[in-house]
Amino acid sequence: MTAQHTIAVLGLGRMGEAVATRLAAQGRQVLGWTRSGRTSGSFDTTDDPHEAVAKADVVLLALFDGPACRQVLDTVEGSLRADTMVVNLGTIAPAEASELARRLGASYVHAPVLGSVPAVAAGALQILTAADPDTLDRVRPVLEALGTVRRVDDASTAAALKLIANSSLAGAVLALRDALQQADALGLSRTQALDVLELGHLGGFVARKRPFLDSEPKAAMAVGTAAAPAGGTADFTIAALAKDMNLLAAASDMPLRCVSELANTPGGPESDIAVAATAPAPADAVLAPLRAYIRGHATGDPGHFRAAFLPTAHIEGVRDGVFVSWPLDEYCALFDGSPAPDEPARSRRIDTVDVHGTVATATMTLRHGPDTFTDVFLLVRVDDRWRVANKAYHRHL
Ligand SMILES: NC(=O)c1ccc[n+]([C@@H]2O[C@H](COP(=O)([O-])OP(=O)(O)OC[C@H]3O[C@@H](n4cnc5c(N)ncnc54)[C@H](OP(=O)(O)O)[C@@H]3O)[C@@H](O)[C@H]2O)c1
Repeated sequence: MTAQHTIAVLGLGRMGEAVATRLAAQGRQVLGWTRSGRTSGSFDTTDDPHEAVAKADVVLLALFDGPACRQVLDTVEGSLRADTMVVNLGTIAPAEASELARRLGASYVHAPVLGSVPAVAAGALQILTAADPDTLDRVRPVLEALGTVRRVDDASTAAALKLIANSSLAGAVLALRDALQQADALGLSRTQALDVLELGHLGGFVARKRPFLDSEPKAAMAVGTAAAPAGGTADFTIAALAKDMNLLAAASDMPLRCVSELANTPGGPESDIAVAATAPAPADAVLAPLRAYIRGHATGDPGHFRAAFLPTAHIEGVRDGVFVSWPLDEYCALFDGSPAPDEPARSRRIDTVDVHGTVATATMTLRHGPDTFTDVFLLVRVDDRWRVANKAYHRHL
């Protein structure tokens, strides 16, 4: 079983280092190379990518993205032996995976993996493997040393499935962020909240990521600032997950909310993905004009609307089939300073707030008697104060 294959691992980042370490620990002959020239105490390395692949019958790629795969293959292709199998463990776009499969033919195995560094160390990856059957038979012992091989029809499908798997991971990170923000707003301690979240649907993720999650919340993030990374070395970076979600949005040509939400997180791109779950709630400053707007409706006092809106704002929507655009003065004139008679039965709820530097969008649901409105706000931070630049509404029938 041991030393059946001579294995080159190209790319000794988080995954490549872990993969090479596990294979070497099992007595396999491993030679690693990485662009930065980093070496390892656990297996042999070379600073010459041609040397790394020259004797290898299996070349494992653990590179960041599709362009990195292309560049490295451009460099080493002439040094690959005719019978060498190239196994790509990286997460790349479906079109990029197809292109590599076409380029290398039957010797190419597209094998994106579910699981991170600890799963590599435990041989517990789930490997979405697209390969020619004979090639898969030959490469299977190496892959099974890393985890479970799950056959997929073709490289493009394997790449697409991997992106879909990671979209649920991004969703889990952001769901955890929302839960922690709500826990903070309720005054619960971070430890108490995490202890209970460990018992629920996100339990496994929370348990694994506790070192990144444990610190109490910091003050709301100022625009354009990044807190220091927390919790130690990242297993899977925000940069890598953001790369995957960008690839997914581009491949599907569908909006994907988590792409911008991941960009708006503390810690910076090299932080572990769990740090994205520690993003603070939107600052009170951006909520202030929305709360003033709510007070305007609750009291009927147009002064609150003047505090909420920029003087240039318009309030726009379709009324009885006709588009109406009120300047702020005209809108304020609709209110006489006293609450609506049915005010105790009315309700308003801020649903979303998305801040992008000095601009933000927000939505609100208002239930006024028999009418339900959805309000959509465009906010701008002018002279260090957030104001509503425009509002559009829809009245649900
Ligand atoms: N980390 C995880 O938990 C995980 C899990 C599943 C899948 N993946 C996927 O596995 C792949 C590797 O992830 P990782 O976490 O190990 O990333 P990483 O730690 O950032 O390492 C990336 C590797 O790619 C190399 N690289 C980047 N650009 C290159 C270029 N233009 N030319 C040559 N080499 C280049 C880097 O080389 P140097 O740093 O030496 O310059 C490094 O070896 C990614 O596709 C990732 O999405 C990661």
